[in-house]
Amino acid sequence: MKILVVGGGGREHAVIKKLKENKEVEQIFALPGNGGIAADAECVNIGATDIEGIVNFAVDNGIDYAVVTPDDPLVLGCVNALEEKGIKCFGPRAEAAIIEGSKAFSKELMKKYNIPTAEFETFSDMEKALRYIDSCPIPTVIKADGLALGKGVIIAETRQQAKDAVVSMMQDKAFGKSGETIVIEEFLTGPEVSVLAFTDGKTVKPMVSSMDHKRIGDGDKGLNTGGMGTVAPNPYYSEAIAERCMHEIFLPTIDAMNKEGRTFRGCLYFGLMITENGPKVIEYNCRFGDPETQVVLPLLESDLLTVMLSTTNGNLADTEVKFRDENACCVIMASDGYPVKYGKGFEITIPDDIRDKVFVAGAMLEGSKLLTNGGRVLGVTEIRSTLKEAISASYEDVEKIDFENAYYRKDIGAKALLAEV
Ligand code: AMP
Ligand code: GLY
Repeated sequence: MKILVVGGGGREHAVIKKLKENKEVEQIFALPGNGGIAADAECVNIGATDIEGIVNFAVDNGIDYAVVTPDDPLVLGCVNALEEKGIKCFGPRAEAAIIEGSKAFSKELMKKYNIPTAEFETFSDMEKALRYIDSCPIPTVIKADGLALGKGVIIAETRQQAKDAVVSMMQDKAFGKSGETIVIEEFLTGPEVSVLAFTDGKTVKPMVSSMDHKRIGDGDKGLNTGGMGTVAPNPYYSEAIAERCMHEIFLPTIDAMNKEGRTFRGCLYFGLMITENGPKVIEYNCRFGDPETQVVLPLLESDLLTVMLSTTNGNLADTEVKFRDENACCVIMASDGYPVKYGKGFEITIPDDIRDKVFVAGAMLEGSKLLTNGGRVLGVTEIRSTLKEAISASYEDVEKIDFENAYYRKDIGAKALLAEV
């Protein structure tokens, strides 16, 4: 089987390594991949949003199955375009990917189908939004409607900060068209849990839960990033909470999308907050999370390709999705200065004995040398029977990896360990 994977981050590296475990897989192409992924797949210099380029490549190379993982190509209709050419895909069509592509859409969906989420109002008129802020509860949360590289969410502690956020999104267009419509929502508190779930539009099979660490600094201080590390499972996600989520959130969401004529197939990401009033949805993503995937897939015992194909073919109910009863920790090594400004081009050295624990995100090859080429450079994942051991093992690996300007958080998993006591 010839497989194409769209994307080029740590998430795609984790997906590719897992797909390779299936003996039926003859060849994997990564579009565009990266210098580290090149060790596990054939990287082709076609960008993840070049839909025409992706489709042409798939047709010309007789691709049997395409796995589309990043948000932009999914929202742009990459799956629709590939399916039109008869190529089977893992991932939702554009009409379903809107669940991430428009926050206004997802909030209205939750309201219509009674899926628990923060109270909210949607605005496309700036003056109305500013007037609303004069009387809304503070803190409040301002969200750009569209995709904004995970940066379109501002938690405002004062009315002035809230107004500044509205002006920057709607007037100054800080996130371009993504901020033409905004959502202003209730500020919730409680532990956050990420749950990725496979679905074929009928059945939903959640993967092991995980916890992301979004801020750049230890103790959850500083700017938001794409994610600086993850642990799985998330100890705040008890069996009782999981049961509630299945009946109050997961199944109702799949059902709601079907009723709207937007059947979702692929991986649906539920960003949840466990509030005093029960679990609520903070966000949906139409794809695997990153770096969540870097802890979740290494724990998957079942064959990934078989599970992915079952979401496409509609037989997920009969397909086993099993996870190891162990703990995983992923520490992201980034370039110092990320998420703002950082240098690139420094040589990365990874000892051979830990190479299979490393998922590469921002790196390029120069001859046989691997050089840094992005903010998040790589993730290191270890699995152990306890969370504490998994954390120590990941940090031991981090110590063995070397590149100039490396930065990583020292407290990945610390909050999860507190919950375990
Ligand atoms: P999002 O991009 O929607 O995941 O938001 C980024 C982060 O902002 C989330 O992981 C939460 O930590 C925080 N956040 C988003 N919405 C809310 C909310 N309604 N209340 C409190 N925190 C929130
Ligand atoms: N780690 C959060 C995300 O993938 O959106």
